[in-house]
Amino acid sequence: MSPTPTPATRPPGPARVAVLVSGTGSNLQALIDASRDPAYGVTIVAVGADRHGTVGLQRAERHGIPTFVCRVSDHDDRASWDRALAAHLASHVPDLVVTAGFMKLLGERVLAAHTVVNTHPALLPAFPGAHAVADALAYGVRVTGCTAHLVDGGVDTGPILAQRAVPVEDDDTEETLHERIKSVERSMLVDVVGRLARHGHTLTDRKVTIP
Ligand code: GRF
Repeated sequence: MSPTPTPATRPPGPARVAVLVSGTGSNLQALIDASRDPAYGVTIVAVGADRHGTVGLQRAERHGIPTFVCRVSDHDDRASWDRALAAHLASHVPDLVVTAGFMKLLGERVLAAHTVVNTHPALLPAFPGAHAVADALAYGVRVTGCTAHLVDGGVDTGPILAQRAVPVEDDDTEETLHERIKSVERSMLVDVVGRLARHGHTLTDRKVTIP
């Protein structure tokens, strides 16, 4: 994890944010919408995906945001994919990278070069991984939610930035619960990315402070 350039250490103006997506990109859309207000303090400089033809990429294109695709299958191994993704990101000089429904674990090059914020549809450390909503439902929890965290080398193990709780209803399916989580998740992500962009953060052990 590299230190976030704070508003004091980066050039004046909005923070440059790159967003990585794999799917529908409703979290991305929330960030795009928020960034229209100059007071939010964010310019989305690029949207990257690990596959072609995603709705998330289409959302970026509609808004004139530069896009790129970097597929694992186009590379010999994960290390060369990591190098390629790091090069894509570096070309856009982001102050912050956000993984919003990006279904790949980032490699060490990307993590060494950038502060990365991930959003996850469960209250970590409960239910890490790609099936968080189904896992929470199967476990029978009555409250779940979402977590924004800094990304480290583990699976959803990085220091926590923000969490919001969402009750589980008796008749919830994975789809209904995930949709309810996502509506809360979008506002959590918009809030935390904006605060990081405007104020930076400090990290002591696992404790994140946004001044
Ligand atoms: C979000 O719930 C995210 O936490 C999870 O996948 C979902 C992505 O939704 N990993 P969207 O693509 O932003 O609509």
